[in-house]
Amino acid sequence: MDNLKIPRHVAVIMDGNGRWAKSKGLPRKMGHVQGGKNVEDMLYVCDDLGIKYFTVYAFSTENWKRSEDEVAALMTLLRSYLSSGFKKAAKNNVRIRIIGDRTRLAPDIQKLIEDLEEDSKNNTGLQFQIAINYGSRDEIVRMMKRTAEDIKSGNINPEDINEDYISNNLDTKDIPDPDLLIRTSGEQRISNFLLWQIAYSEFYFADCHWPDFNKDELIKAIEEYNKRDRRFGDAK
Ligand code: FPP
Repeated sequence: MDNLKIPRHVAVIMDGNGRWAKSKGLPRKMGHVQGGKNVEDMLYVCDDLGIKYFTVYAFSTENWKRSEDEVAALMTLLRSYLSSGFKKAAKNNVRIRIIGDRTRLAPDIQKLIEDLEEDSKNNTGLQFQIAINYGSRDEIVRMMKRTAEDIKSGNINPEDINEDYISNNLDTKDIPDPDLLIRTSGEQRISNFLLWQIAYSEFYFADCHWPDFNKDELIKAIEEYNKRDRRFGDAK
């Protein structure tokens, strides 16, 4: 643990809530409940370890295809954390930002998001990003549409478009790219998460399910990250 180089930005694909629940003979929903609790716990773990940016994939653009019941359960959980657990984190100097297309979310959730972002915008502690109705391809499509409008109206010229322009026009504007991307539950896929932003990230795949991913597991991931020969990214 001593002398470990701590990644500045850790992003997580939280997989395996359903399998965790199944392994305990519980309904799927309980896996998400436990997963939500773990997100809150991990905020404090990340902060303690000195991680500055923490991003989680809470609900993807694909997740709408799950059963109505499961989508409703996930929305209820998000609502509850946006109005209590994450509010408490905001009081503890955590800055919260939501990435993804929020226009498809229920109006009360959009309002909770706006308030939380506004109330935490000057917080200097952990910078916490929650991906809700997020898909990387969708993020790029939305960015391209805005850019096309800006070109059409003469606000920008095609020559103004470069890598910085793109980074500065994605939902993750002002957030450095992830140094370490973790996916739990043994799957080795990116599932449309931060495709542009992970160009130079190290990947770590944990065998345990998200509800079981804790401080020790995170330290294991960081130890592994320390063993890699990073040629890019660290200096950025
Ligand atoms: C993947 O597990 C997890 C999700 C689709 C949702 C992640 C949501 C949470 C952790 C809870 C709510 C989040 C917050 C920020 C409060 P899975 O259902 O795909 O698991 P499986 O592959 O084992 O079925």
